[in-house]
Amino acid sequence: KKFLVNDQFMDENEVKLSIYDRGYQFGDGVYEVIRFYNKKYFKLKEHLIRYIESARKIDIDSALDLEQLESMFEELLERNSIDNGYVYTQLTRGTAPRSHIYNKEELKPQLIAYVEEAKRPLELMEKGASAILHEDERWTKCDIKSLNLLGSVLAKTKANKDGAFEAILHRGDIVTEGSVSNVFVYKHNKLYTSPANNLILNGITRLTILEIAKELGIEVEETTISVDFLLSSDEVFTSATVSEITPIIEIKGKSPIGHGKPGEMTKLIQTKYEEKIK
Ligand code: PDD
Repeated sequence: KKFLVNDQFMDENEVKLSIYDRGYQFGDGVYEVIRFYNKKYFKLKEHLIRYIESARKIDIDSALDLEQLESMFEELLERNSIDNGYVYTQLTRGTAPRSHIYNKEELKPQLIAYVEEAKRPLELMEKGASAILHEDERWTKCDIKSLNLLGSVLAKTKANKDGAFEAILHRGDIVTEGSVSNVFVYKHNKLYTSPANNLILNGITRLTILEIAKELGIEVEETTISVDFLLSSDEVFTSATVSEITPIIEIKGKSPIGHGKPGEMTKLIQTKYEEKIK
């Protein structure tokens, strides 16, 4: 397997990273997860734009620009023999003796990227999954794809322990997003999702679904969703790059959603999504 470290390609055993890397010590960095199907990226540019934007929001000026990233990531796919999967990439602020205060002049941002094989989760997409409700305990800059993932790690692990697929997060009465996904609700022939503000990560899959809804002429409202509204909805699904569109058919400890099986609108959107990734 070939890894990309800054602008160099190398084998795993050649990769040398410092324990003083601020990503390691502070979670001081940003990341992206980008899917490819049959050796072709899906929405590469959109992911890279968000990557650069996340880095800018935490004041990491990478020397890397969009075109350079695009060509390096294309080369990363060519150098690896995986047809279907995703690229994980992270950019940290760099390496320096441990101090909360960073000094940009002394730091060189550090980028790594590698390829991981992943099949489409066909069974999950067809059968649907359950979720738990969980208080959103993260910070209030969730629009940044930060390496600080403790809030997500703890919530998703709680879901897993409870036998659920995802933790749907809420701040008090307001649903924000999933621990690793965005949330959509379908009710009375209308699609709802949280507005893309500082409380959610504006998912590339989310944006693709909004694109699909427009093409299909489905009415969409990007608005705050209450927990009660979600619980009384006809359909719920989550969206994320690797898991794609997952029907949520049950909230653990509460009632099933709709008829307790994947809804017709969810299935239609899944079908349209599949057409786009081909
Ligand atoms: N997570 N919201 C959160 C909090 C996420 O972590 C993710 C994705 C999304 C969906 O974004 P997108 O559609 O661009 O993948 C929304 C990634 C995949 C992860 O942490 O692995």
